[in-house]
Amino acid sequence: MKKILIATEKPFAPAAVDGIKNVFAEAGYEVTLLEKYTDPADLLKAVADVDGLIIRSDKVTADVIKAAAKLKIVVRAGAGYDNVDLEACTAKGIVAMNTPGQNSNAVAELAFGMMLYNARNAFNGTSGNELRDKKIGIHAYGNVGKFVANIAKGFGMHVYAHDPFVKKEEIDGDEVIPVDTVEELYETCQYISLHIPANEKTKKSIGYDLLKTMPKGGTLVNTARKEVIDEEGLLEIMAERDDIKYLSDLAPDCKDEMLEKYAGRVVFTAKKMGAQTSEANINAGLAAAKQIVKFLEEGDNTFQVNR
Ligand code: 3PG
Repeated sequence: MKKILIATEKPFAPAAVDGIKNVFAEAGYEVTLLEKYTDPADLLKAVADVDGLIIRSDKVTADVIKAAAKLKIVVRAGAGYDNVDLEACTAKGIVAMNTPGQNSNAVAELAFGMMLYNARNAFNGTSGNELRDKKIGIHAYGNVGKFVANIAKGFGMHVYAHDPFVKKEEIDGDEVIPVDTVEELYETCQYISLHIPANEKTKKSIGYDLLKTMPKGGTLVNTARKEVIDEEGLLEIMAERDDIKYLSDLAPDCKDEMLEKYAGRVVFTAKKMGAQTSEANINAGLAAAKQIVKFLEEGDNTFQVNR
């Protein structure tokens, strides 16, 4: 009997876990659940005899891969797979996949939740600002970026996007204004919503030089990754311009300093929660489970990311 491990330090909603278990029950697989673990050693132990693994932001390091003697496939139930050591997977012939698009709406809605919360002064009863007629720049026009664009249009915002990997015609076709350079996007838009992945090219790529060019009230909204921010540069511009704001679902290392110095200009969630909705968990979790069955039964590697 094939064995599957669902390892989620940050658990899926119960309905998603039930759905995943049903998919595997139908396939005749055995499922083990490892939730809320705090010691990576627990994951090392739990992967020892599994054929398939479902994770979220859980770190699948070379050690995890080494400990997983029978592992054939790992699926990151979500978009970003910077938490998976792809080289280690490839070296052992393990297929790594993600489930693109499945949790994107949840992330986009959170971006607006943080924007409204901040624009309305944390709902403290004082007079705030509206989003209508403001310019929003979408930095990377992928699955989440597209949802952000649609919601922004509903708010009556002017929507711009920069993405060197998406054709201008496609952006234009969505009634979003394509922008040629990152610099132009930041110079133009009061709001920037970040959707770039964390990789060697993007790490620490957003900092002082870009943020200093933002219009008055410049607000950076980060539902992407902590690593793409140059925190020194962020602190520098926060100190230099008292109109700049940073709203993030990924608490920076300098979180305490920022909260202390810049209350009212920063918003941080308690825990990364962009994809923390029942709907997103069901979409991404079920997609992951079905992808595993399709791969193990039919060799379907449609969503493989380590080719
Ligand atoms: C993703 O890459 O899919 C999102 O960042 C969500 O991550 P999470 O599953 O850890 O909430």
